[in-house]
Amino acid sequence: MKKSKKNSSVNPAGITRRKFLKGFGITSIGIAAGSEGLLGTIQASCAPAQGTVAGPDAQQISLRVNGKNHRALAEPRTTLVEVLRDQLHLTGTKTGCERGACGACTVILNGKTQTSCMTLAMDAVGAEIETIEGLESNGKYHSLQEAFIEHDAMQCGFCTPGMVMSCKNLLDHNSQPTLEDVKLATSGNLCRCGTYQNVFDAVMKTVKQG
Ligand code: FES
Ligand code: FES
Repeated sequence: MKKSKKNSSVNPAGITRRKFLKGFGITSIGIAAGSEGLLGTIQASCAPAQGTVAGPDAQQISLRVNGKNHRALAEPRTTLVEVLRDQLHLTGTKTGCERGACGACTVILNGKTQTSCMTLAMDAVGAEIETIEGLESNGKYHSLQEAFIEHDAMQCGFCTPGMVMSCKNLLDHNSQPTLEDVKLATSGNLCRCGTYQNVFDAVMKTVKQG
């Protein structure tokens, strides 16, 4: 009997499982090949000029943080929070879990909150990055920071910069958020000291003040 040539792993779009995995550099050789593929993707997107490959050694990159350009050295694996804290000395951004779970490292990247421990520095090249240090203007705190102080919206303060950045990004996009909006915006920011109610009060006070 003639054997059917129909391959059950081919989907209607004509993408085979093998082609899909190869797209990510993952082959039957295993995970090492997979990582190389991902690195290759990062290298390709960060190559400073055509035909130049970034990494594995550190290379100079330029990051735009709080409206200023900064030079830094980054390997393809270097995270944004590492560059912010260790090279630019912007230590307001905290590291907690270093795996995207606590929100302590939250910054604003092109108008969206982002965990900087889960963002590769090279992927942030060309983006507008805002950190907690950028909120102060002419020696004056942002109204949100003032409200946090007034409402005692911190205890140890470790989660506070990330919490403030999440709230600031919310207000940037929605000047009249509801309490539910505030809760949703800060849902990725964990506070071990349990200051949530005071944070909510601080943000709602800022909203009322306009
Ligand atoms: S340190 Fe980045 S999410 Fe926890
Ligand atoms: S104030 Fe301590 S973790 Fe939030």
